[in-house]
Amino acid sequence: MKKTVQDIDVQGKRVIVRCDFNVPMKDGKITDDTRIVAAMPTVKYLIGRGAKVILMSHLGRPKGKPNHEFTLEPVAERISQLLEKQVFFAQCDNVVVPEIVAATKDLNPGDVVLLENLRFRPEEEANDPVFAQDLASLADIYVSDAFGTVHRAHASTAGIAKYLPAVSGFLIEKELKFLGDALNDPKRPFVAILGGSKVSDKIGVIENLIEKADTIIIGGGMAYTFLKANGKKIGTSLCEDDKLDLAIELQKKAEEKGVKMLLPVDSKCGDEFKDGCKTCYADSDDMPDGWMGMDIGPKTIELYAEEIKKAGTVVWNGPMGVFEFADFQDGTKAVAKAMAESNAVTVVGGGDSAAAVKEFGFEDKITHISTGGGASLEFLEGKELPGVAALEDK
Ligand code: 3PG
Repeated sequence: MKKTVQDIDVQGKRVIVRCDFNVPMKDGKITDDTRIVAAMPTVKYLIGRGAKVILMSHLGRPKGKPNHEFTLEPVAERISQLLEKQVFFAQCDNVVVPEIVAATKDLNPGDVVLLENLRFRPEEEANDPVFAQDLASLADIYVSDAFGTVHRAHASTAGIAKYLPAVSGFLIEKELKFLGDALNDPKRPFVAILGGSKVSDKIGVIENLIEKADTIIIGGGMAYTFLKANGKKIGTSLCEDDKLDLAIELQKKAEEKGVKMLLPVDSKCGDEFKDGCKTCYADSDDMPDGWMGMDIGPKTIELYAEEIKKAGTVVWNGPMGVFEFADFQDGTKAVAKAMAESNAVTVVGGGDSAAAVKEFGFEDKITHISTGGGASLEFLEGKELPGVAALEDK
């Protein structure tokens, strides 16, 4: 267990908080503020306890150079609205300069400052110790609440923790609890649903889940590598031919452990990878030449929904099909719906599946939707997360 903000005295102290404000933007406007909203309980707690709050985050991948397309200024405005108080935006391409260090010394309890995008400096992603110390010089305490970025060992997520007392915020605490309980103390049967395009992205997760789950459901583009390895016809569907042996190996491992692994029995296919293409349904034994599977079919939907209904815990990562095309949304939508209607503990592991759950309006009926994409995937793989490991133990 890691120490949290509740385990330390923050009254009158300067507290620097790493958040993940890496939010989607269009034309300079935030299109989904979930991650900002998710950080507010910690910020409000700190304000309420009389801390002087310095917030920091990255946005996008500006590759270590100032680039105003990636400024955090719109985020500062959104935080001001959510807190109903003015947040001071420390607009500075170098992120930390002596004037900003001096200004943090003049803060009053309850003041909130947001630094400019940390990735304007190459030292951030390089986990440079001098940059980490510069960030540390702004505060007395470090709080990590950027769950979406804890899989990165950067100056603001890991390096800084060497120079200040380092504890977690409420978001990280909540994410670790829901993901951790689902994985390590699940109500059974524990059903894991994995989708997405590539088996190669999910090898670690499948291997870890074989040790923990009762049933593993496979969907998305990666299902076709498994299907081909099992001698099925896959037409022009996505396939990693160099992973066919691995697919069989994973299935064997699952069988040895008594884990049920389910593959699609049918697909909805397209004649080309294009929104509005011609479509047809095909059984997995019978996909016609020249067609590609782009979603699970209706028989598979029924099969998977039945498994979800029986589950005590469901963890889902990765869409069942190309849900960004209207014709291939059914599988992903049906999984989201079955999870929403089930009595199980339901956890959605960030990224595309989280976006799908929100798009289809099931957000309120899921036990926990992670704010981490890569971070939740690495958690499910059982990997150590550097941004968590750096924090103090209770
Ligand atoms: C994310 O969106 O997954 C996190 O903010 C991490 O971003 P990154 O993949 O650019 O490190």
